[in-house]
Amino acid sequence: MVNRSMAHFNDNYPKHLGEKYKGVPYVLLDIPRIISDDGFVETFNRESRHVLRLAKTAGYPFTREEAEVKAQNEDWFKNEYIEEGCNWKGLYLTPTSDKTMKHVVLDGKKDFPKLFEQITTYLPLKKIHTIRCWENQWPIGLHRDLDEQYPGVPTSLRIILDDNNPEPTFWLAPKPEDKKGWGYERLNKGVPNDAVFVDAFRETETNSFVFNNHEFCHAAKKDPNHSKILMFILAEWDWVGYEKLMDKSIERYGRK
Ligand SMILES: [Fe+2]
Repeated sequence: MVNRSMAHFNDNYPKHLGEKYKGVPYVLLDIPRIISDDGFVETFNRESRHVLRLAKTAGYPFTREEAEVKAQNEDWFKNEYIEEGCNWKGLYLTPTSDKTMKHVVLDGKKDFPKLFEQITTYLPLKKIHTIRCWENQWPIGLHRDLDEQYPGVPTSLRIILDDNNPEPTFWLAPKPEDKKGWGYERLNKGVPNDAVFVDAFRETETNSFVFNNHEFCHAAKKDPNHSKILMFILAEWDWVGYEKLMDKSIERYGRK
């Protein structure tokens, strides 16, 4: 079920795309590598903060008090309201109206003009809503995001801006039919055999990809000695440009 408390920018997607890209977990995008302005990583490391939870959501339906009790009783459960339990450090490069988590907001367009120019030049986006850059603190369990749930259509956009891991860490697996894919369902205990790892940094020209957030769940490994900065762009797609880019990308990199 779609959570209507989140904005759904791409609800107008052409329905034939759902059939055309059905079963495709992710697609590496056939665009040039997106490179951040000089000093980006240093700024990120200096300014980013723990993304603390401030309120419950459909994906994490626990109040601060409930999370505290649950974390005490169940080892695996993380209390996202406190630094020791929150999954991410990061910052927004655009304003955001999200009040469910605590965010650092920078003026990305002003501070990183080259990055923004590449995003708007290479990607067929009609309107950018938010851009954020996050780094996971530990392994992220299999889950689906609250936004971008479109049957058969890989619309969730990520760009790996920095990554010093020797191997890919972002992975996907089919959503079990009887689950919603919320993180608290604890869908994985370790990485399963059918995990599909996304390499969009080491072997490819591109560092951008889209994934299906409807029939698939996603997760990430974390090696404490390595780090990566993942950029999430929430935007309205220009569907003509999207389909063209998808077809070109599948021709080059394949249907994964
Ligand atoms: Fe996610």
